[in-house]
Amino acid sequence: MTVTILDGKLVAGEVKKQVARQAENLAKLGTKPFLATIQVGDDPASTSYLKAKHKAAEEVGIGSEHHHLAADTSQSKLEALLGQLNTNPKVHGILVQLPLPREFDEDAIIEKVIPYKDVDGLHPINAGRLSAGKETLVPCTPKGIVKLLSHYKVPIASQFVVIINRTTLVGRPLANLFLNRDATVTVCHSKTVNLAQTTRAADILVSAVGREDFQIKPEHVKSDATVIDVGLTRVEGKLRGDVDFDNVSPLARFITPVPGGVGPMTVACLLENTVEATKIQTRRGQKEPSNS
Ligand code: GUN
Repeated sequence: MTVTILDGKLVAGEVKKQVARQAENLAKLGTKPFLATIQVGDDPASTSYLKAKHKAAEEVGIGSEHHHLAADTSQSKLEALLGQLNTNPKVHGILVQLPLPREFDEDAIIEKVIPYKDVDGLHPINAGRLSAGKETLVPCTPKGIVKLLSHYKVPIASQFVVIINRTTLVGRPLANLFLNRDATVTVCHSKTVNLAQTTRAADILVSAVGREDFQIKPEHVKSDATVIDVGLTRVEGKLRGDVDFDNVSPLARFITPVPGGVGPMTVACLLENTVEATKIQTRRGQKEPSNS
């Protein structure tokens, strides 16, 4: 069996078409979906991700605004901005680009976003719902991965999934999405011993490490496995993923490229979440919200 490349750019394009149709319908009914993003400081990677998010929002008819705060902004100033965005009826989605500068209490900031505007799906209420099997606003990268697999009809139920990442942004929500779809899931991380022994058993292997000194090699991968590369590292000026693509792809049944794999799916799912959040809020009829 030859390898199939999971084309994230192509599938993201289809998701964006659907989102554009839904955004148009909402606008016709009087509510144009609207996304507010916040960046604190000048991390170049964050700047380029945000640029891509705003460009994509414009393409599908989602309004957006960006708030750029200096790195030395106080926690309370950022919280005050979130308070304003939470109560602004024009704004349906709020995204605080992570990571925040070290001085910030990131968890407190995430909890400050009202859950039904939390298009990143990171608020403990949304994360808790996901872990209880109820998917409302789901983190964009995990959602994009599952959508990409579904598009290519890669089976998930009863498959052994190994995820190398335990963050609240990627590994944990992704493990829950797979569990909700009846996979058997193992989560690996920096303290895992015998990583290759575990990953070699995976039917679906997801790697989201993003370190120069880490690479998924053929000895990590079972023949005919599905390999999802979420890593993005700059090595000698060039961006590369976690996976040694040239040597691993001949072994795999399905594999994502970098770039053009998971990245575009993340952006498409942010747009989808913004439309979803808009629908939740128009159902509420814009009345003063309770905390859910
Ligand atoms: N930093 C890297 N990826 C993401 C993401 O999906 N959302 C946010 N808010 N920050 C990120």
